[in-house]
Order: sequence, then C-alpha cells, then structure tokens
Amino acid sequence: MQILPFSRARAKIFKKITKMYVYRSCKSVGKNFTLGKGVIIKSSRMLSLGDDVGINDYTWINAAGRIRIGNDVNIGPRVVIHSSNHKYLDPTIMIRLQGHDNKPVVIEDDVWIGAGAIILPGANIGVGSVVAAGAVVTKDVEPYTVVAGVPARKIRDRISNSSVRAQLGSLPPVDRPTIGGGFSRTG
Ligand SMILES: CC(C)(COP(=O)(O)OP(=O)(O)OC[C@H]1O[C@@H](n2cnc3c(N)ncnc32)[C@H](O)[C@@H]1OP(=O)(O)O)[C@@H](O)C(=O)NCCC(=O)NCCS
Repeated sequence: MQILPFSRARAKIFKKITKMYVYRSCKSVGKNFTLGKGVIIKSSRMLSLGDDVGINDYTWINAAGRIRIGNDVNIGPRVVIHSSNHKYLDPTIMIRLQGHDNKPVVIEDDVWIGAGAIILPGANIGVGSVVAAGAVVTKDVEPYTVVAGVPARKIRDRISNSSVRAQLGSLPPVDRPTIGGGFSRTG
C-alpha cells in the first residue's frame, strides 16, 4: 500500500467529498463524471451536467444564475465560470447592496475549455467549440469555432463551411456524421 504525504491524502479526501457533494446537490449529473482536485462549485442545485463531463483541478463554478453543461465537455484546470453579476448601475447605493443580475450560462456538447479561461454570465458556448487557455468569454461562441484572447474572439473555424456547421450544431453528437474520424462519443 502506498502511503501518501498528508497534503496529497487530504486533497484526495477533499476530491471524494466534493464528488459526493456534486452527485447529491447538483440539479443533474450524467454518466462518467470526472472531477479534479480543489474544484469549488457554488449554488450547485442550479448546475446540470451531461454525460462524460470532466472538470479539472482548481476550477471554480458559481451556478447562482443557472449553468447547463452538455455531454462530452472537458473543462481545463483553473477555469472560472460565473452566471451572475453584481448590479452596480445606481451610484447612490453601495454595490454590495444592489443585488445580483443572474444570466444563465450554457456550454453545449463536445466543448473543450482551456486552462484558466473565464466564462462570464450569459455566455452560450456553442457545440463543438474550443475556448483557448486564458480566454475571457464575454459573448456567445459560435458552434465549431475556436476562440482566444481577452475578450475572446474567433481565431479559427473547426469546420469551414458555415451551413454544415449549423446543421451539425442542431444534431445530438451521437447522430452526427463522423468527420475525419472525429465526433464519435465512443472514440
Ligand atoms: C486554443 C488552442 C487549442 C489553439 O491551438 P492551435 O489550433 O494549434 O492554434 P495555434 O497555436 O496555431 O494559434 C493560432 C493563433 O491563435 C493564437 N492563440 C492560440 N492560443 C491562444 C491563446 N490561448 N490565447 C491567445 N491567443 C492564442 C496564436 O498566437 C495564433 O495567433 P497568430 O495566428 O496571430 O500567430 C491552444 O492554443 C490552447 O489554448 N490550448 C489549451 C491548452 C490547455 O489549456 N490545456 C489544458 C488541458 S485541459
């Protein structure tokens, strides 16, 4: 039996507890959910997760405004996802007393979110898209595109033909034709 140093053992226990908490408290959790260490999820009852979702180490999710994550979504380490802003428009009232503005976030199927990306309230990350490491997503991401930078902008299409992209985006992944050997749920 391997004897783990205290901090690793503690991280393992924390991860187990968080996973149990996710299963018990989230609105829904699909099959094959994997969770890294140090993940923090706030307002988990407003979070739904599809099948084959992976959330990597130290990611922070606040689902107060509702977050729906589809199937086959890979969330890198230290990603931050917000679904709620502080209201701040009235300068005569302290920001902390103005309440919140909830805006749901949707991450559709077959999305990869790179390390350290930040997804802001109201963003809809389209099916088959990639969010580059360190990107700050302030708006919707088109299906099958790659976005990067602050604010995130499209750096490339994964599929060059926009009508094919739109057609694929409206199908569930299992029904999508295989393109270049990709898109199959089972690999
Ligand atoms: C998004 C990503 C996959 C793109 O890779 P790629 O398709 O090989 O793209 P390229 O490296 O050819 O870059 C294309 C352009 O986008 C820019 N770019 C790529 N990644 C970027 C990023 N994270 N932020 C800002 N710009 C980026 C490049 O500088 C390049 O710009 P240029 O055309 O002006 O030279 C990759 O850059 C990335 O961010 N990977 C995430 C890695 C990660 O987080 N891993 C964690 C494991 S879950």
